[in-house]
Amino acid sequence: MLRIAVIPGDGIGPEVVREGLKVLEAVAGPTGLEYETAEFDWGGERYLKQGEVRPDSALDILRQFDAIYLGAVGHPDVPVGLVERKLLLDLRFGLDQYVNLRPIKLYPGVWTPIKDKGPEEIEFVVVRENTEDLYVGTGGFAHYGTPDEVATQVAVYTRKGTERIIRYAFELAKARGKRKRVTVVDKSNVLTYGHDLWQRVFGEVGEEYPDIEKDRAYVDAACMWMVKNPEWFDVIVTTNMFGDIITDLGAMIQGGMGVAASGNINPDGTSMFEPIHGSAPKYTGQNKANPIACIAAMQMLLEHVRAAEAAERIDKALTSVLASGKIPDLSAGKCPPTSEIGDMVAAAV
Ligand code: IPM
Ligand code: MN
Repeated sequence: MLRIAVIPGDGIGPEVVREGLKVLEAVAGPTGLEYETAEFDWGGERYLKQGEVRPDSALDILRQFDAIYLGAVGHPDVPVGLVERKLLLDLRFGLDQYVNLRPIKLYPGVWTPIKDKGPEEIEFVVVRENTEDLYVGTGGFAHYGTPDEVATQVAVYTRKGTERIIRYAFELAKARGKRKRVTVVDKSNVLTYGHDLWQRVFGEVGEEYPDIEKDRAYVDAACMWMVKNPEWFDVIVTTNMFGDIITDLGAMIQGGMGVAASGNINPDGTSMFEPIHGSAPKYTGQNKANPIACIAAMQMLLEHVRAAEAAERIDKALTSVLASGKIPDLSAGKCPPTSEIGDMVAAAV
């Protein structure tokens, strides 16, 4: 019995999660998948009502599940960053989900802003480190609010953290068996301590994988290549902050936030799957958001828990629905109603 913790979150989160669960239900019958879900009302809405984003016991509760399905976080009436930290970052860090896996995959029939590139060329994965870097929250102020103010925000990299994410990327390139290339994306020409560590560890771990090509790109150049020659990439491994930035770019070249999904993975613990998009408050409750990204996140979840047949069916259903031309525009407000897109995918599985 597969046990899934569901955190719909804020804004359009609940609407897109509903469609992902609809597709899960549709695929469970024919594949004989047995599952149960438990829903948690954590997020900005709860904070406004009860003064807390989530209970203190959240991590212990979530550890009891096989996987977590998250909609979206962020609420316009809650101080900026609060829900992001208490829900998203605390879970990523607390459950040690050290991999943020972000496939950049152009489905057939989906429009990309990149001229002359198609599904053959746009098919790679970003392995974003998910527990270190500028996200650790180390730093502070001195002389706050005065003309002499100093603010620091410290990027933290550990050898263990760097090694495990780089090893994950090499293993992934091996398992994919495609272009067999890992590109480390950093800024080691300027960040001569932290990213020097990354470069050294990349070289060391890379030696264990003689059949995988080792490639290196500075983050600014990587942005250029992602647009100019996306076919060059197979697996990109990068730091938390750069991974955050380049995966928004990646989302755009695969057709937009409407399709981009991700997994926060702890290979030895409980992992969490979510669309890359935010809570899009202006579309809340209007049935206007595109649930494809959230459905794709469910597909990743099922793949992760080794419900291979169910995952494959969802992938094929997404491919056929997108290729059918029934969703000519993937953006929120311009796509067909949220629930109708969910129905289409559910029917196709
Ligand atoms: C993401 C988001 C988060 C991040 C924010 C909401 C904290 O942008 O998942 O990419 O920076 O990781
Ligand atoms: Mn982001």
